[in-house]
Amino acid sequence: MSHQPTPQSASTNRASQCRTPLTDSARTRNKEWAARGLRRQLSTFSTAQLPHAVVDKREYLLFSSSDYLGLSTHPRLVEAATEALRTYGVGSGGSRLTTGTSLHTAAEHALAQFFGADDAVLFASGYQANLSTIATIATADVQIFSDATNHASIIDGCKQAAAKVTVFPHRDYVELDRLLAQCPADNALVISDGVFSMSGALADVKELHRVCQKHGAWLMIDDAHGTGVIGKDGHGLCAAVGAIPDILVVTASKALGSEGGAVICSTEIAELLRNQARSFVYSTSLNPGSVAAIIAALDVVRTQTELVSTLQSNISYLRQSLGIASASENPTLNAPIIPLPIGDEERAMSVAAALRDEGIFVPAIRYPTVPRGQAMLRLTMTARHTTADIDRVVSVVQRASS
Ligand SMILES: Cc1ncc(COP(=O)(O)O)c(C=O)c1O
Repeated sequence: MSHQPTPQSASTNRASQCRTPLTDSARTRNKEWAARGLRRQLSTFSTAQLPHAVVDKREYLLFSSSDYLGLSTHPRLVEAATEALRTYGVGSGGSRLTTGTSLHTAAEHALAQFFGADDAVLFASGYQANLSTIATIATADVQIFSDATNHASIIDGCKQAAAKVTVFPHRDYVELDRLLAQCPADNALVISDGVFSMSGALADVKELHRVCQKHGAWLMIDDAHGTGVIGKDGHGLCAAVGAIPDILVVTASKALGSEGGAVICSTEIAELLRNQARSFVYSTSLNPGSVAAIIAALDVVRTQTELVSTLQSNISYLRQSLGIASASENPTLNAPIIPLPIGDEERAMSVAAALRDEGIFVPAIRYPTVPRGQAMLRLTMTARHTTADIDRVVSVVQRASS
């Protein structure tokens, strides 16, 4: 698809005389956003995002990182990344199809092997993996069925796709079954987060798989928060429940401690994506350091199994201490995301600020990330937290939110 210039009209457009300069337009919108209590600001880290981190020049106990296994600072990843940067340089210089493939193919093989799949396609981020995969797969003859609380990158992929999109109620697979039975399209693509990124709820992937099989629908699961976390060996939610989707999206930016997204799939789907996924073809590939770190991370998860089990027992202990029921009695099937619902946006902000005063860094999540009136504190657990860290956050959270 080319981006052709629009033919110029000879007549002067009257509207152009009263147009607003872009900076003025941005200022107005920023003021409106701030007046609605939605302004966000950046926090600057001067240490790694470990449980004890220095943020905006102050030391905090951190419960907000997705570095679930603490691999971002693991010596094996750091060494692998450093060596790759020395060998290949800090940038890849082009898209995968030009100069941008060095360690990338080895990482794709390692990912495919880790997940027991035929192939894997590496993208620069999980966001790009979702966006581009959906836009490529879901052509006009496809109808998409997307869970109502899927991640923004899935929603944006659905917007880019030529397919018709139907949003089904969150985790309502009876309704999905009904909708699929009525679907007139030649093909149907069902998409769901594996671990929902804000609530930490788990999709019933086994049931999704069954419903998709019944209707001949394709299944795509985004297991960004399950990879390296869920299942006895950290192979993620799908492997843990024995239901393998047509497309599994994972990201290296969370438990794998690096960055980059990957689509785990058959060789034919991989071939399609390498040729037609626009963010694979038209965006510079991941830098070799991040790619080397992914390969090392997969090996660490495979060999240092105590990391995954420590994370899982930390999750169980935090949930139990906060009095939050676990999603499953099986401790290997719990998400590392623990939401504390607050409701009102301003109250969520003030509880988060009270926690910061006490040296605890936990983000308040509010609209537009979650619907209005459903603001929350979102705690994330890592294998690097100690029992003392968990006890401290529990006592401060209980005091601040009472
Ligand atoms: C469920 C889910 N999918 C995809 C992404 C995007 O991954 P990345 O950060 O690698 O772009 C995220 C990250 O926030 C996520 O939570």
